[in-house]
Amino acid sequence: MTRERWGNFVLALFVLITLGALAAQGLALWESFSYPEPARESHKPDSPLGKLTPIERGKLVFQGAGCLSCHMARLEPDSPKVGFPVGPSLSNAGVRRDEKWLREHYIDPHKLVPGSMMNSFSYLSSEELDALVAYVKIFNLQFEPKEEVKLVIPERFTQEQVERGKALFTSQGCIGCHIIGSVGGPLGPNLTKAGRFGRTDEWQLKHLKDPLSVYVLGPTDGIPWPMPKFDKLSEEDLRALVAYLQSLQ
Ligand code: HEC
Ligand code: HEC
Repeated sequence: MTRERWGNFVLALFVLITLGALAAQGLALWESFSYPEPARESHKPDSPLGKLTPIERGKLVFQGAGCLSCHMARLEPDSPKVGFPVGPSLSNAGVRRDEKWLREHYIDPHKLVPGSMMNSFSYLSSEELDALVAYVKIFNLQFEPKEEVKLVIPERFTQEQVERGKALFTSQGCIGCHIIGSVGGPLGPNLTKAGRFGRTDEWQLKHLKDPLSVYVLGPTDGIPWPMPKFDKLSEEDLRALVAYLQSLQ
């Protein structure tokens, strides 16, 4: 091998080694730019969704599933009321219904409430259903809208009857289970606008004497504490209560 050829060989070798080193570096650089594969299951414990508590997760499911297209609710205790009033306000649903009822009701509303307009959410995963139950279970008085009490006495009742009914509402303990304005307990429906529910006086009387008799389906489903019978009250007291209820507008 001549000296010149030897020189060329060394040069070629040098160029090859340099190119190899550069290629290796380039590859390392390329790798550092490419992202790791996204986790396929979003509920992996270390994924952003997996880090949420069931309640936080339930709030997302609630918003995503379109519950607000039929229900009014507050998403946080002090936030404004959002949604549409096709179904009942969910403000105190968490106190009124137990976990088992809530879960079953999402899967098959018609089974628990025949003729219900609510659609089934059986397409949700078991985990999403649990999260939804956990979220709706926190709906309590703090989520309740505070409404103004407005009394408009229908002509068939007297001011006296309404005042007597109002006093009975407190003395008979109705207030312990029903909210009127901003006072009351959450076990029964909010009665601030009871006069607008479209109930007749006869329905109200019958309901007060025996609440279960007027429901198609027993209202005790998932309700821990159903409304007691008020059949020991005089006819006059019952009429006074009805006068008060029907004046709440
Ligand atoms: C198409 C309208 C509609 C949609 C959408 C809907 N609901 Fe309902 N919902 C109703 C109606 C009507 C009722 C009353 C009859 C019944 O209990 O099934 C109801 C009742 C309820 C009750 C019982 C309240 C109580 O105190 O008795 C809960 C809780 C509830 N819905 C939660 C939800 C949640 C959570 C979603 C979303 C996953 C949802 N709903 C979506 C119409 C709807
Ligand atoms: C232990 C709790 C409790 C007490 C006390 C109670 N209620 Fe109720 N009330 C309920 C529950 C629960 C329901 C609803 C059942 C359901 O959701 O199907 C109800 C339903 C009602 C309704 C029906 C509203 C409607 O039109 O759908 C009226 C009116 C009512 N109560 C008035 C009264 C009056 C008046 C008193 C006192 C004399 C009273 N309640 C005492 C728990 C109670």
